[in-house]
Amino acid sequence: MEFFCLTWNHIICIILPLISLSSSEKFTVLGSNHPIIAVVGEEVVLPCQLSPRMSAKNNTIRWGRDQINSPVYLYENTLHITDAQDQAYRGRTALFEEKLELGNVSLGMKNVRVSDEGIYGCLVESLIWYDETKIKVIVTGTGSDPLIYLDDYEGKRIRLGCKSSGWYPKPEVTWTDGKSQKLTSVSETIE
Ligand SMILES: *[C@@H]1O[C@H](CO)[C@@H](O)[C@H](O)[C@H]1NC(C)=O
Ligand SMILES: *[C@@H]1O[C@H](CO)[C@@H](O)[C@H](O)[C@H]1NC(C)=O
Repeated sequence: MEFFCLTWNHIICIILPLISLSSSEKFTVLGSNHPIIAVVGEEVVLPCQLSPRMSAKNNTIRWGRDQINSPVYLYENTLHITDAQDQAYRGRTALFEEKLELGNVSLGMKNVRVSDEGIYGCLVESLIWYDETKIKVIVTGTGSDPLIYLDDYEGKRIRLGCKSSGWYPKPEVTWTDGKSQKLTSVSETIE
């Protein structure tokens, strides 16, 4: 880094970081250019990596989310600042400590919820430089196996019901006969 100094009674130094930045101090933050698919109840890694590879241990790492002011995860001055964290992410998110040295600032998230779907930002800041990347997370849920049951009967007509829960996004339901031909169902309740 270079300093621009004026000598008077005291020495006033003006740091010109943008001009004097050597390339070794700059970095780009790389995320993912395709959405990350997360499954309800499982774990997911939101990728974020410094390029070129350099230690991120002394950097501020802030994972945030659109429309949520408090951080999803905050690491500053080599400390994990968990009390600043948004309630919904406490105890569910972590950086991979041993990977920070490699510039890997990916976020691990467990017990994925439907509400985790959205856009996340990974911001890495050093004293003189910062960069950010956005990552889209799509949440899916695979529901229980469908269960067919006899719902009602009237004379020779019977009504069959089918139950399955835990699907996200909302599933499409198709009834088929023994030959895989589509049947039109009279009523459908999706909650
Ligand atoms: C981080 O900062 C500490 C204390 O200032 C220093 O000893 C260490 O070398 C720095 N690590 C990196 C990777 O820059
Ligand atoms: C960063 O570390 C995580 C956790 O070990 C891993 O899943 C991910 O692939 C790593 N990213 C890169 C770019 O190496």
